[in-house]
Amino acid sequence: MNDRVCVVTGGNAGIGRAIVEALAQQQARVVLVSRDKMRGETAVQEIHSALPQANIDLVVGDLSSVDKTRQLAQTLLNRYPAIHLLVNNAGVWPTQKQLNEDGLEMGFMVNHLAPFMLNQLLQERLRASAPARIVNVSAGLYVNGRVDLQKTPYGHDFHPIRTYASTKLCNLLCLPLEAAQLAGSGVTINAVHPGVINTKLGIMRGPLGWLMKLVKRSWATPEQGAIVPVWLATAPELAEVNGRYFNEKEETPLAEVAQNTELATQLWQLSLDLTQITAAIS
Ligand SMILES: NC(=O)c1ccc[n+]([C@@H]2O[C@H](COP(=O)([O-])OP(=O)(O)OC[C@H]3O[C@@H](n4cnc5c(N)ncnc54)[C@H](OP(=O)(O)O)[C@@H]3O)[C@@H](O)[C@H]2O)c1
Repeated sequence: MNDRVCVVTGGNAGIGRAIVEALAQQQARVVLVSRDKMRGETAVQEIHSALPQANIDLVVGDLSSVDKTRQLAQTLLNRYPAIHLLVNNAGVWPTQKQLNEDGLEMGFMVNHLAPFMLNQLLQERLRASAPARIVNVSAGLYVNGRVDLQKTPYGHDFHPIRTYASTKLCNLLCLPLEAAQLAGSGVTINAVHPGVINTKLGIMRGPLGWLMKLVKRSWATPEQGAIVPVWLATAPELAEVNGRYFNEKEETPLAEVAQNTELATQLWQLSLDLTQITAAIS
């Protein structure tokens, strides 16, 4: 990975931070994207003190709205003439309904629309830097998702588990279309369920939050959660693998719920409309 430019969203915490560390250990030039400058700086400093030769840049970028995500893409395009890897890791598990400035449900925005946008807006740069890869950090819970295009994007019928699952399902519905768009370009896209990992994802306030923190102690570490995303990002044997879903290290066919081509095409179009991006499905 010598000097290859690797962008990791949500790189300041949890699995993302462990991905940054692992890529830095492989001599990559890692672009740690954090929505909060201080949290990002702290992460960079801590990684540097353990790994002094690490080559890490901090880019502050928020994925909570269409405009902010576009700004992040523009910053990356301005700063990096080549981008070889994009890890769409940032994610949220909202425990209550929250709409962003576009009127979109926050999980839909951060978990689906933002990676969809980055994949489109950085695509030309990735193609020009090929061989290049995109890794989407997904979630096995997608099988519990139910996508209704009139409701899911806007948080109608919000449910703390089903809505999170549905936003991850949205992203996976688009995976075959994105893979087809990239076919033959030297850029691949794959998705991964990283395992059940002890991070701050989905922690709520109050007594239930404490209980959850206790339960999470028995879960795998962020470093363990980073293993398969980093493998997908770097393994030479996966150079040609495109459009696949990995449940941890096992390549797994997408469940039927994620194979609805008609729904996927409608979601693709809606995602373009919501973001004012033009991108054809090949
Ligand atoms: N943990 C698990 O068991 C598990 C299982 C399956 C899938 N996943 C997926 O793994 C990915 C990483 O999650 P994690 O478990 O490592 O959770 P985490 O520790 O909460 O980390 C999430 C990262 O995303 C960032 N983020 C959240 N909202 C953002 C926004 N609006 N703009 C930019 N960045 C934002 C967070 O930034 P802040 O630090 O500023 O909040 C943080 O860096 C997520 O996509 C998640 O859905 C996790």
